[in-house]
Amino acid sequence: MTMRKSTENPEIFKRRRKKIVAGLNGAALIVASHPEQIRNDDVHHFYRQDSNMYYLTGFEEPESFLVIRPGKTPESVLFVREKNIERETWDGFRFGPEGAQKEFLMDAVYPIEEFQKQCIELLKGYEEVYYRQYKNKDADQLVEKVLLALKQAYGRSGYGLMTLKDADSFLGEFRLRKDEDDISNLRKACQISADAHVAAMKFTKPGVTERQVQAVLAYNFYMNGAARVGYPYIIASGNNATTLHYNFNDQVCKKDDLLLIDAGAEYNYYSGDITRTYPISGQFTAAQKKVYQGVLTIQQDLIAYLKPGIFFKDLHEMAADRLTDLMLELGLVSGRKEDVIKSNQHRKYYPHGVGHWLGMDVHDSGVYFINGEPRPVEAGMTFTIEPGLYIPQNDMSAPAELRGIGVRIEDDIIMTANGCDVMTSGVPKTIEEIEKIVGTAAH
Ligand code: GLY
Ligand code: MN
Ligand code: MN
Repeated sequence: MTMRKSTENPEIFKRRRKKIVAGLNGAALIVASHPEQIRNDDVHHFYRQDSNMYYLTGFEEPESFLVIRPGKTPESVLFVREKNIERETWDGFRFGPEGAQKEFLMDAVYPIEEFQKQCIELLKGYEEVYYRQYKNKDADQLVEKVLLALKQAYGRSGYGLMTLKDADSFLGEFRLRKDEDDISNLRKACQISADAHVAAMKFTKPGVTERQVQAVLAYNFYMNGAARVGYPYIIASGNNATTLHYNFNDQVCKKDDLLLIDAGAEYNYYSGDITRTYPISGQFTAAQKKVYQGVLTIQQDLIAYLKPGIFFKDLHEMAADRLTDLMLELGLVSGRKEDVIKSNQHRKYYPHGVGHWLGMDVHDSGVYFINGEPRPVEAGMTFTIEPGLYIPQNDMSAPAELRGIGVRIEDDIIMTANGCDVMTSGVPKTIEEIEKIVGTAAH
């Protein structure tokens, strides 16, 4: 596969490294590249760099490590593959140590083959190192060898194995608080995603296939600069929408069904995450309208509630509470609301959470609780709001007219000092707007 240099300014990554160094508190940090995935020996899957690795380097090649040693010389050290003209003929350009040193503003760059030897030297004297295990098996083995060698080098001088701390949780704190660089990339990913959803709405009419709708999304994503999708497309017509991670996307869209689309473009490693649900014919049936308007009102109310200092936990509870009201109103569950929620009966129709952090990973890093306490959502944090209601076709306990209806409405939000900004507000979601736009494209 061909490797390219990130189109982003290397200063962005240098600034990030500087920011995280201050938080390391004397510990060292090791970040490994994403493992290379190979299928059938010869066929290489599309490679995407590990988000943490990209976040701190902008370097997109596999078989690489970053080691950071706060305040030491060298402070930022990258390990990369050597240049190899023969392999590059097959797989594409490699920077090699010299090229990487020039392009990525590192203090030192070594060949990956020297990782073990150099890293032992680089980590001498450290008592703690941040590293994320179990993401890359080969990298884990190398790091383990380094730690064992360091322990042996100390002999009986009293040091045990160096303490390993979790790099994901550590870096998650930084990735959670988006700065201007992060925000501009995420906004762009959201804009590309939103424009594609609008195009898909216009394209949809009875008889098109889910895959054709996917093609419209993909066309718009790539024509507008997306590198990839942030997650697999969910293009779910009719009852397919009640399977949360449906991604066969191979059915014909039928006149009387709804279409649920959950799709997001990735731009500079940031991902949009939008869901819209709308009638394939352009006109909601009375039953669809009841469910859709119910979910929409809840989604709008949740967004209206957003301001810095609120807790995600409260949003989850609000969504469960309001969606249970809706289930009672629709005759999906019965009894006292409190009892329905307490016995988790509402999970049958609303089995997921109300949202998640959004960023370089669609379910972005960053913890929701700190020492068991919910963390307040601060200005600069970005996340989704995505209530939904799903009534499977074969649910004989549900009113017949509601069976096979699945609705989710999902927008991407940035918390601001005074409230929030819905980055994906360009995609229609009121019944009136939707009925006006669906199916209006010339075929
Ligand atoms: N598309 C993944 C999610 O909505 O969380
Ligand atoms: Mn989502
Ligand atoms: Mn989604």
